[in-house]
Amino acid sequence: MIILSPSILSADFTVLGQQITEADKAGAEYIHIDVMDGTFVPSISYGMPVIKSIRKVTDKVFDVHLMITDPIRYIKDFVDSGADLITFHLEATSNPQAVIDEIHKYGKKAGLSIKPGTSAHELIPYLDKVEMILIMTVEPGFGGQKLIPETMDKIRKTRQMLDEKGLSTDLEVDGGISCDNLKEVIDAGANVIVAGSSIFKGNITENIDNFKAIIGR
Ligand code: DX5
Ligand code: ZN
Repeated sequence: MIILSPSILSADFTVLGQQITEADKAGAEYIHIDVMDGTFVPSISYGMPVIKSIRKVTDKVFDVHLMITDPIRYIKDFVDSGADLITFHLEATSNPQAVIDEIHKYGKKAGLSIKPGTSAHELIPYLDKVEMILIMTVEPGFGGQKLIPETMDKIRKTRQMLDEKGLSTDLEVDGGISCDNLKEVIDAGANVIVAGSSIFKGNITENIDNFKAIIGR
């Protein structure tokens, strides 16, 4: 099952609720919410009050992508705001297992992400500890970038490692995904697809329909 997770980072924030409703109705399974702290990544995006507010407009899975340093400090706040699945960066903490445990303590799903410069091997100790792995296909921090071609091998490698361990862990990709490379990332082994600018720029319903046509539904 291929899951579509539109990233609201590229939405029009003056009508954010309406755009999320449109993405929901058009068939997105998840809503991807990028939280940036200005330290782990150069940008600052949005946090708990925004998540709490948009929780009222959709029942879809809130796929919260934390690009923040020392994420353990804020797990409870994101749970209380309405996060269903919380992904943090391996590079952002000295104790990834403690962050995973903290997310699981509240009954939420945990995701672990690596930046383009981090090797897939670093994921090995955690492959069977999380519900999702997120392979960043651009440097985190900004929407609208081009997919870094070298990350395709990492998607393949990660899917292979999961298969070898007999794990059905979700494999998410994020950054520069469009209808032009969607098939390629799915063939490489990704099953949760994040897309920001290619969904929220232009007609949201049409864009999601185009994605769905490639996915085959
Ligand atoms: C980037 C974020 C992405 C971003 C993707 O750091 O993690 O989720 O919104 O945007 P596009 O799909 O435009 O590359
Ligand atoms: Zn993201």
